[in-house]
Amino acid sequence: MFTLAHLSDPHLAPLPKPRVAELIGKRLTGYINWQRSRRVIHDSDVLAKIAADLRAQAPDHIAVTGDIANIALPAEFTRGRDWLQGLGSHEDVSFVLGNHDIYVSQAAPIAIREWGGFMSGDGGARGFPYLRRRGPLALIGLTTGVPTAPFLATGRLGERQLGQFSALLEQLGDESLFRVVMIHHPPVSPRPANKRLVDAAEFLRVIAAHGAELVLHGHDHLHMLNWLSGPDGARVPAVGAPSASAAPGTGRDAAAYNLYAIDGGPGAWRCEATSRGIDAAGAVMQQRRVKLSA
Ligand SMILES: [Fe+2]
Repeated sequence: MFTLAHLSDPHLAPLPKPRVAELIGKRLTGYINWQRSRRVIHDSDVLAKIAADLRAQAPDHIAVTGDIANIALPAEFTRGRDWLQGLGSHEDVSFVLGNHDIYVSQAAPIAIREWGGFMSGDGGARGFPYLRRRGPLALIGLTTGVPTAPFLATGRLGERQLGQFSALLEQLGDESLFRVVMIHHPPVSPRPANKRLVDAAEFLRVIAAHGAELVLHGHDHLHMLNWLSGPDGARVPAVGAPSASAAPGTGRDAAAYNLYAIDGGPGAWRCEATSRGIDAAGAVMQQRRVKLSA
């Protein structure tokens, strides 16, 4: 039995105090948005409780699908590095970038410098997609984080990344590994077009051609489960987790994370998902359990 934990969108609070020069461009609208609403939603005490509960479960590996930062201030990356290190080592924690991590064009090199060890492939290979083999799992990390104009929260995989992703899925399917895809933006979302993955159709075509055993995402800050079409009638669960710092009663789903118990083998995988989240009284407890395979 292999246990994989999935946590998303921690949006570390409080926001570091920005310098005036740092608020030029898109960061200004993001800063106003933070002051108006997000600072009430994202609660550092809630996130600390969620992270402590996750660590107490002692999972074999932890996947984090983006949005550690809020407006990609330099100080958010050093704080984010410390937070990731508090979850676990480079070996035990896999991270993929969200749109808030790459909020502005100058953010990418800082993210790579501070968080690169959590988003590198086996052997230290840098770049997306990356591949990590852990027990029976093959974890594939994709990036959808691209700087966008104000009021846009779209993501893009791009042709090059999609091509490599397709080849990886095919190769790993031949190796009979349990393929876990980590991506920030959901491949299927009810949200408006200005917040979606713009090349979702191409992503879904790759899954339909080669399959995967599990897709993990964040971005919508909701508990989500969509079944994607795989090859030969197979169905691939795409599961979204809420923001891990969302205080209860502040709009979307309250903070939670998911634990996946995976066993079995090729052609007969068993995967059960358990959500643990915060209740109105501030306690973290088991909320739901779903069988994702036979
Ligand atoms: Fe987010």
